[in-house]
Amino acid sequence: MYGLIGAMSLEVEALMAQVEDREEKKVGMDVFVSGRLFGQEAVLAVCGPGKVNAALCAQSMILHYQPEWILNLGVAGAGDATVSIGDMVVATAAVQHDMDTSPIGDPVGLVSKINLVEIPCDDALRAKLVKAASQVEGVNVHEGIIATGDQFIHSGDVRSRIHGLFHAKAVEMEGGAVAHACYVHGVPCGVLRSISDQADGHSDMDYPTFAALAASHSQQVVENLLRGE
Ligand code: ADE
Repeated sequence: MYGLIGAMSLEVEALMAQVEDREEKKVGMDVFVSGRLFGQEAVLAVCGPGKVNAALCAQSMILHYQPEWILNLGVAGAGDATVSIGDMVVATAAVQHDMDTSPIGDPVGLVSKINLVEIPCDDALRAKLVKAASQVEGVNVHEGIIATGDQFIHSGDVRSRIHGLFHAKAVEMEGGAVAHACYVHGVPCGVLRSISDQADGHSDMDYPTFAALAASHSQQVVENLLRGE
């Protein structure tokens, strides 16, 4: 069984609508929808925005469904000017950009306990995601670091700081937490994002305009991926 997590309904609703032999289970405040999706056993959930919501959902999914891998999909802000609205980013690793114990000597972004800045994504799943994303017409696909934090980034200065620290190609609010939960439990993880805004001073206008199209692209990638399995 494969696990799919989006932060908002918009990011998984087209996939949810395609689930056959559907079953629902509620764990805490998360609703898990399982069944057959494009010929594969899958479980889907909307985790809600932010790292704690995402980590709780990923851990519950792992403990209740034992997925072979978990993919966190959805929209993101661009990590720098080489990434445009409509592009896709497949994570090589995820970081938690707002984790900061540097005043007591740690590198910015170090997640203590697991002792990592870059939380790895699964190489085999990443390669399949890149292939599936390349099949979406007219979309540029990037591979690189995705930076996660409990903030909607809407300032060029903040984006530059995150890029300077981590070389992030995308900024969002859940991938690093799903990757964290997967790492703790030894479950392969992927993070796929479609760019809805530049994470700069225009994001308040761009996000509502482009989020739906971006979200539909990342769900198209999942369809391509599952049909190819
Ligand atoms: N998701 C989509 N755009 C974002 C942004 N600018 N910051 C954080 N998460 C996002």
